[in-house]
Amino acid sequence: MMSSSHFFTDREYKTVFFETFGCQMNKLDAELSLGLLQEDGYRIVDKVEDAYVVLFNTCSVRQHAEDKVYSHLGALKTLKKKHPEVIIGVLGCMAQKDGKAIFKRMPHVDLVCGTRMFSRLPELILTIRNHGSHVLAVDEDQVVSVKRVAAYRPNAYQAFVTVMRGCDNFCSYCIVPYVRGREISRTISDIKEEVQSLVSNGCKEITLLGQNINSYGKGLPGNVNLGDLLSALEDVDALDRVRFVTSHPADMSRDIIRTISRLKKVCEHIHMPAQSGSDRVLGLMRRGYTSGYYRELISFAREHIPHLAVASDFIVGFPGETEEDFQETVQMMEDIRFQNCFIFKYSPRTGTKAAELIDDVADEVKRERNLKLLELQKRISLEENKKVLDKKVQVLVEGGSKSDPGKLSGRTRQNHIVIFRGTPDLAGKLVNITIQEVTDLTLFGKLAKG
Ligand code: SAH
Ligand code: SF4
Ligand code: F3S
Repeated sequence: MMSSSHFFTDREYKTVFFETFGCQMNKLDAELSLGLLQEDGYRIVDKVEDAYVVLFNTCSVRQHAEDKVYSHLGALKTLKKKHPEVIIGVLGCMAQKDGKAIFKRMPHVDLVCGTRMFSRLPELILTIRNHGSHVLAVDEDQVVSVKRVAAYRPNAYQAFVTVMRGCDNFCSYCIVPYVRGREISRTISDIKEEVQSLVSNGCKEITLLGQNINSYGKGLPGNVNLGDLLSALEDVDALDRVRFVTSHPADMSRDIIRTISRLKKVCEHIHMPAQSGSDRVLGLMRRGYTSGYYRELISFAREHIPHLAVASDFIVGFPGETEEDFQETVQMMEDIRFQNCFIFKYSPRTGTKAAELIDDVADEVKRERNLKLLELQKRISLEENKKVLDKKVQVLVEGGSKSDPGKLSGRTRQNHIVIFRGTPDLAGKLVNITIQEVTDLTLFGKLAKG
């Protein structure tokens, strides 16, 4: 494909390779960008060697995420030397954070496009073709508004919808507020319209996205909140399920929990990161709640929402975290029994408050604590999953299983992955499955009778 001919048709130029890192929101931004490019005539290819435009949508949340992108970019140096007509772009959070420093470190990069500019991607690429390299687009005030065009989605039955962008919380360790800017919520009518159009294209499950979704509505006219948004989606016909991430304990009100308990479409699953079980560390993290508050909130939610599954994130090795602090996190995990947890080693981010503290927990200790929590959670997940043995669960069928091509895969309302035997025509349907076998991550079963 990468011929050395000097004559390219527009069609040949319009091939794009895209790789995305980071959170769900970043993945959705990538989908939306690809949709825009497709509408502009681009074809998506799955090999770098077949593309004239190579884009990375990047993440800055931990050093490791950035290192990965820089190493990918470094690997493209030879390609760019051989084929200078290839356009290499860095989008998203790392683009926003590092800006033109990326051109300095990686001069073969042509485009740096921040988190609020990707709707202008087709035009920016054209600018590079016509006027040359090193185009920087990291305007912070730009309000992102992307019409959902081509249906570039990995799965026809599920879709993510961004309901708010940015974060105002400034947890002391976190780069997100700096790279994603201030919170901006979309209106309920905008969101509903997008959901309706997805549903009329066959979508059955919607996951609403926001870095701090419990503060949805802040800044909108009227007194709207997440509960109002969820209620508004309840009457979208043919929509089976609604999910929302990520919840913040300090902003998750009891009112919202009560509203969720009344709504049939909202799934019994919340992802509400605790980050630590130690009040001292939570204070240093500026999370705005104590371990006791978090525990009570979970009890309240479990009382009101039967079969609720709770997922969490934890950071180990935050500056000054002692063995005692860590044991309080262990205790919290033991007591609350999360369905699943993401565990991260603390990574200092320049510009954040915590970066002013000494990163004094040795990497060795971070690794140990990380491993301990992973093992503990694995044990708990397995024990919890065993409770579902012989029970009937409702599953939204997503399609063929990736690990076992003869079988289908789907998810319960609690977000467990379920593998079972069935015909492909079940994709997109709700079925009942009797669970026969479990691991810590997956449930296996068979179609229930009746
Ligand atoms: N908005 C979400 C998620 C933000 S990033 C929330 O508030 O929960 C996802 C997770 O990455 C966080 O929950 C946190 O556990 C982790 N994280 C963020 N910054 C980090 C850092 N500097 N080092 C290690 N983990 C971090
Ligand atoms: Fe980061 Fe805290 Fe905002 Fe989550 S709530 S994105 S952890 S600052
Ligand atoms: Fe990473 Fe940006 Fe998401 S920093 S976690 S991709 S908001």
